[in-house]
This record gives sequence, structure tokens and C-alpha cells, in this order.
Amino acid sequence: MLWRLISDDPRRGPGSSKNNEEASPLYLSDTLRIQELTAEERAIYATLKPECLPQHVAIIMDGNGRWAGHRSLKRFLGHQQGAKSVQLVTETASRIGLPWLTLYAFSLENNLRRPRAEVNFLMRLLKTYLESNLQRMMDNNVRMRYIGRTHELPPEVQDKMRWAEEATARNTGTTLTLALNYGGRSELVDAFRSLAAELKLKHMSPGSITEEDIHRHLYTAHMPDPDLLIRTSGEMRLSNYLLWQIAYTEIFVTERLWPDFRGIHLLEAIADFQRRERRYGGLGEDSGDVDEEAERVKIAAS
Ligand code: FPP
Repeated sequence: MLWRLISDDPRRGPGSSKNNEEASPLYLSDTLRIQELTAEERAIYATLKPECLPQHVAIIMDGNGRWAGHRSLKRFLGHQQGAKSVQLVTETASRIGLPWLTLYAFSLENNLRRPRAEVNFLMRLLKTYLESNLQRMMDNNVRMRYIGRTHELPPEVQDKMRWAEEATARNTGTTLTLALNYGGRSELVDAFRSLAAELKLKHMSPGSITEEDIHRHLYTAHMPDPDLLIRTSGEMRLSNYLLWQIAYTEIFVTERLWPDFRGIHLLEAIADFQRRERRYGGLGEDSGDVDEEAERVKIAAS
């Protein structure tokens, strides 16, 4: 079994595992349900290196409106179809033992800038989605969490969210986090406010602030940073998503619109991710040692 504690990860710095609710495995190898993948999914999964699966995949789900427009349908039908993709992709993630899946379901900007009728529809859709998929979440051992200024959502939506979170709290498979009324900049504002309050309480100086302190005050303090960020519908933008957390995340953009995105496409993105070389600002494996003397001679000769 392949387990690696987050505290073993040199990127996260000493003591970082304190902020995680539990020691996270590299992947949830005891919850693998590969036999439940479709034949096509299994074929792609067979090409993956299980020891190099991402721990955390984040997705910007985009293109619901265009999907509907291409079919001369109303936008809300695109969102409805998008909710189906959410469930199917989550189930594939749970079958391959992906520990963390974080989906951008509703941004602060969506809340402020979309017509009220669309916002109201998205809120109703979220409630219905949670109600009608809870049993599937349980069957797939999925735990539900949320990030964002969720306290600003309608009370009945918050009730339903709490209900789903509590019902799935003991599940040990994939944690599905929905980013709702979420903005990366407002997350940083919230983190700095709470860090400033802590500094005041503990009579500490701003000069003592570390990256780890900021991490501790983010909505995502309990999870590792995403290894892979997927964006559907071809836009090359981050759209204010997880700005702090994606410092070293690999980005995969697909032209496919979110309502057409399925588990097989998640696996294709992971296969692409596994072909990348992650350097975290260092040198690649085949960059060779730098022979300083040889470099000096070369520079002198040129
Ligand atoms: C972008 O489509 C998507 C969203 C506004 C948010 C994602 C929402 C869903 C997937 C539906 C419901 C989700 C849950 C969890 C129930 P867009 O309208 O921006 O598409 P466009 O750019 O083509 O207009």
C-alpha cells in the first residue's frame, strides 16, 4: 500500500501536517474501486502510474451556457446538465481513490453579476442536487465540504448544505469540496483579517508572518494544494480561483464544455498531468549537474 504523509512532503515545510485534519495518503489505496470504472475509463486508468496520481484536483467548470446555446436551449438547461457532470466526475474520482476534488460551482462574481433569475435557479439547482445525490455520495463514500462566503447564501440553501456535510462527515473516500460564493481574492482578504486578529491577540509583530501562517487561515487550510487544475470550455483564465493555492499547480485546459465532461476526461487530464515534469522552481531531472569551471571556460571563450 502506498501511503505518504503530508508532513513527508518537502514542499509543505516542517510542521505543515498540523493543519490537516488527518494524515492524507498519497492516494486512497484502500478505497480503490477500479472494477466500477467503465471499460473506456479502465483502459486509460491502466496507462496511469498509480504512485503518481494527483492528491488534489481542482476544476473550473465552464461552458454550461454555451452548451445550451449550441442546442438552442435555455441556459438553465446547461446548468442542469452540468450538475449531472458534477456527479459523474465525482464518482469516477472516488473510484480511483482521488483524495480531494474541489469544484468551482458558484463564484462571488456569478452572484453579483448574473441576472437574479439565473442566480435563483443555480441556488435551487444546488439544493435539489444535494437532496437527490446524497445517497449516491454515501454509496461512493464521498465526503462533502464547502469553501467560500457560504454564510451569504440563502438560509435554506445553507441548511441543505449543512445537512449534506453532516450526513457525509464520516465517509472516508474522496472529499468533494464545492466552492460556493467563492472568490480567491476575498478568501485572501478573509485570511488576512483572521491572521491580523490572531497577531493582535498574541501580541505578535507583522514581521513574524510566514507563508505557513497564511495557509493556516485559508478556507483550504485542511487540504493539500491542488496538483492539477482543469478548466473546461477552452478559456485561458483563472477566474479568481484558488489564487494562493495554485502557485505550483499544473494547468490543463480542454475545449470540452462542462456538461460534456465525464470521468473519462478526468482520467485523460490525469494522464496528461503524469507526462509533465514538476520542478517547483528547481531544475529538471535531465538538466545535468552544472560544472562551474566548464561554464567559466565557455563564457571566457565566447
Ligand atoms: C459556468 O457556466 C458554470 C457555472 C456558472 C458554475 C457551475 C455550475 C454548475 C456546474 C451547475 C450546478 C452545480 C452544482 C454543484 C449543482 P457558464 O454559465 O459560465 O457557461 P458559459 O461561459 O458558456 O456561459
